[in-house]
Order: sequence, then structure tokens, then C-alpha cells
Amino acid sequence: MCGIVGYTGPQPAVPLLLEGLRHLEYRGYDSAGLAVVSANGHLEIRKAAGRLDRLTESLKVAPIHGRVGVGHTRWATHGRPSDENAHPHTDCTGRVCVVHNGVVENYRELRDQLLAQGHHFTSETDTEVLAHLIEVELTELPEASDGEGPRLLTACRKALDRVEGLYAIAAVSLDDPDLIVGARSRAPLIVGLSAEGNFLASDVPAVLGETRRVVRLKEQDLVALRPDSVLIVDRYGRQRERAVDVVTWDRTAAEKAGYPHFFLKEVYEQPEALERTCAGRLVDDHVVLPELSGLDVESIRRVVLTGCGSAYHACLMARYAFEAWLRLPVDVDMGSELRYRDVALDPSVLCIAVSQSGETADTLAAFELARAHGAQCVALTNSVGSAITSLADHVVYQHSGPEVAVVSSKTFTGQLTTLLLIGLALAERVGRATPVSLQKVVGALTDLPRSVQEALATAQDSSRIAERHAHVNRLLFLGRGVGYPTALEGALKLKEISYIHAEGYPAGELKHGPLALVEPGSLVVVLATRSATLGKLISNIEEVRARGGSIIAITSRGDDLIAPHADEIIRVPETVELVSPVVNVVPMQLLAYYAAVARGCDPDKPRNLAKSVTVE
Ligand code: AGP
Repeated sequence: MCGIVGYTGPQPAVPLLLEGLRHLEYRGYDSAGLAVVSANGHLEIRKAAGRLDRLTESLKVAPIHGRVGVGHTRWATHGRPSDENAHPHTDCTGRVCVVHNGVVENYRELRDQLLAQGHHFTSETDTEVLAHLIEVELTELPEASDGEGPRLLTACRKALDRVEGLYAIAAVSLDDPDLIVGARSRAPLIVGLSAEGNFLASDVPAVLGETRRVVRLKEQDLVALRPDSVLIVDRYGRQRERAVDVVTWDRTAAEKAGYPHFFLKEVYEQPEALERTCAGRLVDDHVVLPELSGLDVESIRRVVLTGCGSAYHACLMARYAFEAWLRLPVDVDMGSELRYRDVALDPSVLCIAVSQSGETADTLAAFELARAHGAQCVALTNSVGSAITSLADHVVYQHSGPEVAVVSSKTFTGQLTTLLLIGLALAERVGRATPVSLQKVVGALTDLPRSVQEALATAQDSSRIAERHAHVNRLLFLGRGVGYPTALEGALKLKEISYIHAEGYPAGELKHGPLALVEPGSLVVVLATRSATLGKLISNIEEVRARGGSIIAITSRGDDLIAPHADEIIRVPETVELVSPVVNVVPMQLLAYYAAVARGCDPDKPRNLAKSVTVE
């Protein structure tokens, strides 16, 4: 996610903005910039791709002096990481500039409208349209503010009325040089109040060095900030009073938003991250993915999905959907295997490579193999401008935001959800699936943030169960259908952070070998949410219980079929079966987390693992 900082007060702005941006680095970024209203009345802008140090260096070479300004760290969503695409962005006059965190879903339409009105753009970003929309509104407002508050505040409010998407913004204008206007919709923004001026920021860590008094802006709030005044209005311009909180966290705790570990914070960020993944892509019961408009769908005779680790599990889960919707053969293989297979690949193959980092060596190599054989190549990644994007014919971003913990959680559910979006978009063009079945899935994806939010409410169950069994040294995870790769992911999570040996297995395969592992006291986690094969799964559960094994069942809320067959139950909201792994993985992420904590492991930095495996 991008980071925003603003300051207006008696102090020099640049050091305060840089300090604030430094404490937002944990959010992940690929470029940074700032704009200051200089003492001689100019809007001075410095921005640079790469680390914050590059920006700091540029400011040493060409210092800026001023007391009002905004700063930004960019996590690219639209447009590669580059100096030009870094924020802030200005309007045509160069008198208004904006920094933004979020996604302007309708930015193409707005950009076309603005181009038709004669505006010109200097970046590939969605954000730049905001500066021009504000410019348009400023030119249409009466010269003197008409009692609605500062003209820039009104202009921002009217401009944002035209925006679809999620955003937190900060804007300054030379026409009102000590004013900063902020606004938020589905992205956080806070005000920091100090005796030495006022601050605006994406998150508390950016201001904690200067103040502990913060105002957390509410949904659709706008704020006009001056050195000694704060005016908050709602989206209709009505003044609003908001509580002032005193933050007691230290900075490290604040970066984790009060969670003890980044992993747990990111598990809880999944509803918000999934909202960003689907933003602008689910329109009137259909999936809109313009990124794939150039794909030659008619020529596709086979699909190959590849990735590593959790990304591979996402591919295994998506296979069920692709087979059902596209009525095509779907081959799934982990990158490290596919790259060395003498596999038949040709222009009739669609290869989708999944990698949140976009840098995983084995996945890149498998993708290159597909490309070399003329396959149509689609990259699904979380990282704009990463290596995988340069190998792809088409790129679809998952927009999960940066993931700090080594072990994937929100980027995994983001990968799977994006695969389902791709599958739906292709299915609509291929036309072999019934529209009603596709619309049910679109509905399930629309409800997904809420379903995952409800699944998070099982945390107490997971915590209790994990702490009770933290001493065990081996577990089996069983599932059928999409429950099988879900079992693989649950087992991987547990292995990665608690170091308990766990194995995911197709429940129907139990009697073909793994049943030999089951003895009195064995612990088995079963994915037992509603599905056509639930009855078969109950038989498998009984095979375990008959040999003294204990069952932890993840089952659908309201379904009592499993209760007589399980020793412990975690109930999750029901959803369409092909979408269910996104919901069902949540209690398993939590089980892994609480088991790791109970065993004294560090869930954020598991031994032997790296966030991105850029070597073979
Ligand atoms: C970490 O929890 C993951 N389990 C890890 O396997 C990851 O999914 C894998 O390394 C692939 O990473 P990528 O998505 O960045 O390519």
C-alpha cells in the first residue's frame, strides 16, 4: 500500500515529511516523492524511483525550504515504478498537486474525458487524473470561498464525487498555500495534532515522533488542515466532529497496527486486500479484466497453471474452476518441476504463471519455457514491474498490497481470487459455462471480503485448539475436491511457522497408505465444508476415528452433519464451493499462527525461509 504524509505548521516541512515517510517504509514501496510550497511561493516537487535514500540525496543536492508539504511512498498499481510515475502528481497549471493511496477504478474513462477537454498527462498512473479533476472543479468554483470552507476542500469533494474506487489523498494548492486537504474512501487516513503544526498520514507511525494525538478520519470524510485549525466535513460538505485519540503504542507496535506480528496483521487485512483485488472488476454480475482483452481466447486448447509453494496451491485450487468453466484440459505443475519437464507446449496453450513477488526463479524459468514454445503467457503478480511482467504477454495484478511477513496469507488468497476472476473473464468469452453458474460465483466473490471477515471471527476457536495441541509433532490435513489443495495449503502454513510436520492429502487416498500413520492420539484436520463429496469425507473421517485418531473439522456454519464425527469444530460461512478455499484457509492460517506462538516460534521470520526465492 502507498504511504501518505502531510505537514502544515511553523517548522520546515521537508525533514518532517522525510521522517514520516521513513516510518511508513514498512508498508512496502518502489518509489517516493514530496511537494512543498516553498517560501518564494512555488510548488517544489522532488520524486525518485527506488528507496527513500534516493529522494533524500536529491534533496541534499537541491534543498527545498517551505512549511507546508505532502510526501508519498508508492506501491505501484498502475504504471511501472519510475520517477515519472512517482507521486506527487500535478494538474496542467502546476499549481495543484496530489498524493494518493488506493485505486481509481474508472481512471481510464476519466482520463479520456480530461484529454478530450485538453488536459495533458505526464505519467501512466491512475492518480494523475485526480489532480486534473481538482483543477477542473477549481476553475468552476467562484473565486471567493462561499462559506463552504476553503475552495480546495470543495474542489476535492466535488472531484472525488466522480471517482469510483478506493482512495486516501492529500492535496495542496498554491492558491491557498498553508492548506492541506485530505480525503478518504476505503483507505485509512489520520490527522496528527501538535503544538507545532498539524499532520496528515496514512498511518500512526508516520506522526508518532511529533504527536500522540490523532484523529482517525471516518469513511468518506474530508479534512482541511491548517497550522492551527482542522475542519472535517463529510462527502456532502457537512461539518463533522471526530474524536481525538491518544496513541499509547510504540512505533514498532504501530507499524503492526497493534498486532503482535505482521503475519497476524496481514491475515486480518485479507478482507480489505480482497476488496482491492476485486475493485472495479466485478461489474453488474460480470468480470471486467481489460488486461486480458488482447488474449486470443478462441485459439486456446489447453491451460497450464504454474507457481511455487502457496502460489502452486492456488493454481491447484483454480484448476477445478477452470475445468468446470472453460471445458478445457488444465495442467498444473510447480515451477521447479515444469521447467524441467519435456512437456508439450505450443501456441494453443494458455500459460498462467502465479507469483506474488514476480521474482521466483523456478516460476520464471517455467514461464520462459512456455513462452519459448509460443504459448500465450499471462502473469499474475502482486509486484508491478517485477521480472515476471517482462516475460508476459498480459499481466493481471492482484493488488494485495505489500506483505511483510515471510509466510504468505493475504497474497495467497489474493492469488486465488485473481485466478478465479481470470477464469470467469475467460469463461464469459468462451461461453461454455451457464451464465447462471458464473453469476453465482461473481456473487460469491462480491461477498468474499465479508465472508472472510466472518471466518476471522473463528480466531478464538483456532487459538484454543492450537494451544491445546501445540505439543503434537505431526498432523494430517485431509480434503476432497478443492478441499485437497486447501489441505495442502493448511499443512504448508503449519509447517512454515510452527515447524510441526504436517501433510496435506486427498481424503480418498487415506486407505492407500497414509492411514498407516494413524494411531490413538493422531490429530487430523479435515476440510469438511458443504460439498457434493461430504458424505464420502465422513467415511474417511470414520476411518481415522476407528483407529483412535482425533478430528478437527472445518465445516460450514449451520451444517450439523459433521458434528457427531468430529472432536473439535471450526465453523466458517458457506460460499460457492469453488470459492470456498479463500474462506476455509483462514482458520488454518490462524491455527498455524497460534501453534507457532505457543511453541515460541517467530511467525514473521520462520527459520530457513525467504520472502522471495530468487534462486533455484
Ligand atoms: C510462503 O508462505 C509461501 N508458502 C511460499 O511458498 C511462496 O508461495 C512461494 O515461495 C512463491 O512465492 P511467489 O508467490 O512470490 O512466487
